[in-house]
Amino acid sequence: MSSKRYDISMLVNGRSYAASVSARTSLVDYLRDELRLTGTHVGCEHGICGACSVMLDGEPVRSCLMYAVQASGHAITTVEGLAQPDGSMSVLQDSFCETHGLQCGYCTPGMLIAAQGLLDRTPQPSEEEIRDAIGGNLCRCTGYQQIVAAVRLASERMARGER
Ligand code: FES
Ligand code: FES
Repeated sequence: MSSKRYDISMLVNGRSYAASVSARTSLVDYLRDELRLTGTHVGCEHGICGACSVMLDGEPVRSCLMYAVQASGHAITTVEGLAQPDGSMSVLQDSFCETHGLQCGYCTPGMLIAAQGLLDRTPQPSEEEIRDAIGGNLCRCTGYQQIVAAVRLASERMARGER
């Protein structure tokens, strides 16, 4: 196996990082193991569950399916980056708490990223659009109803000007 390493740099949650990684280092491993951003979870590791979702230039992607070198030069947002600047929860995160949109929490970072991606492009989504946006993220606990309710509540609160 080649031991060659590649220099990468990327913005993660608004902060600039540079590193040298092997070609086969996945983005999720880089975020979790090198940057210690362990809010992004690893589930299936082959693109099915969505637990590893992060934003790449504002679009949700599976970080288990990307190599860190592919993310070089891009802006990444992880679940840690969704919080308010003072560390308190965003409206979306708070809405998940309000509606009991999580139980074990394993899927939650990926759900939040998928939902944030939807609300960024469609601030007032229909129920169908919410279900479609989270449709690639698996949850073994909630039955999805409370998650849909959380995204709806967040969109209502944002429409009232909450940030
Ligand atoms: S861990 Fe990436 S999609 Fe499941
Ligand atoms: S809350 Fe447990 S997997 Fe979704």
